[in-house]
Amino acid sequence: MNIQYNLKPKSERRTEAFKPDKTLPFGLLRTDHMFVMDYEDGEWINPRIVPYSPIELSPGAIVLHYAQAIFEGAKAFMHDDGEIYTFRIDKNAKRMNRSADILCMPHIPEEMQIEAIHSLIDVDRLWFPIQEGASLYIRPFMFATEDSLGVHPSSTYKFMVILSPSGPYYPKGFTEPIKLLITKKFHRVPPGGTGSAKAAGNYAASLQVAEFAKKFGATQVLYLDTTNTYIEEAGTMNHYHVMKDGTVVIPEFTDTILRSITSESVMELSDRMGIKTKQERIRVDEFIEGIRTGEITEAGGFGTAAVISPVGEYVFEDGSSVVVNDNKIGEITKKIYEYYTGLQTGKIEAPEGWLKKVERRV
Ligand code: PLP
Ligand code: COI
Repeated sequence: MNIQYNLKPKSERRTEAFKPDKTLPFGLLRTDHMFVMDYEDGEWINPRIVPYSPIELSPGAIVLHYAQAIFEGAKAFMHDDGEIYTFRIDKNAKRMNRSADILCMPHIPEEMQIEAIHSLIDVDRLWFPIQEGASLYIRPFMFATEDSLGVHPSSTYKFMVILSPSGPYYPKGFTEPIKLLITKKFHRVPPGGTGSAKAAGNYAASLQVAEFAKKFGATQVLYLDTTNTYIEEAGTMNHYHVMKDGTVVIPEFTDTILRSITSESVMELSDRMGIKTKQERIRVDEFIEGIRTGEITEAGGFGTAAVISPVGEYVFEDGSSVVVNDNKIGEITKKIYEYYTGLQTGKIEAPEGWLKKVERRV
């Protein structure tokens, strides 16, 4: 791919390492540049890295009316050698194309996505936040640009990548378990829909539910399937629980659950971590009973932004709740968190191909 560089003048760019003095918020900061590429006449054209700035879009662009948009979320980490490494970025590139299939959008060759991401990080590498627990959050996204009010797949698209030097998704990081609302009133997606895609519309649909959850003091919702029988996932992370014998149980991936790269990674790492993992359909009544009887000893969420987020309490619409592990972070959760973050930051050797170094090109 022949990327054109139109960079900010040096005097307007970050010129020294970024060492934030306060814990960084998640997703608010931007770096100096962004990657942009257009899709026209069946081809991806004009790949470019330009200063981060507003973009031009027709008021009739399909994305603004019918939400034909998908995105990814990945992270890069700085290792002790001072180099930046993306984590399992090939998995994100694959999932982007899977989402594209579900939303009737064109594929972007995986190597192109990875080159776009690595080239942008290379240009903005001084924005890597040197702070415990922080990372460079990578947000690739594609959206429909055709100006048309007919409901049909767009003939033109933009693929872009932006970066956000970020701290933990939940402000208290890994220090305090969160509370989730279990609701029978709202559902994330119906079967046969866009649930397994990282589609922008899924997140729009989650907003009123998240506001509802706040009334119960909950951070997010743990969604059930539309029959209110099985546990699905939370708004921005997969769900897990730990049985008394130490087995980590993750709901089976159906077409209403996003296939979390974090969940998949934890399962792939189970032998190395010396823990058992399994996936199955999980009945919500058995889950709650399991917490009450002590059969279930820990629970939480897995996600790129959320990392490993312990859950200490599940609240219900009638105001009652169940508490897990006395609202404390459990041993298996700690073990996974330490192993996973150790591996991302290069303290523990990662499986072959999981970390890709961002080469110095510019
Ligand atoms: N489920 C949803 C709905 C998400 O938004 C996310 C975040 O990306 C996840 C699960 C976790 O997926 P991953 O581990 O690939 O980030
Ligand atoms: C991620 O974990 O990367 C996500 O995309 C979740 C997000 C909606 C904050």
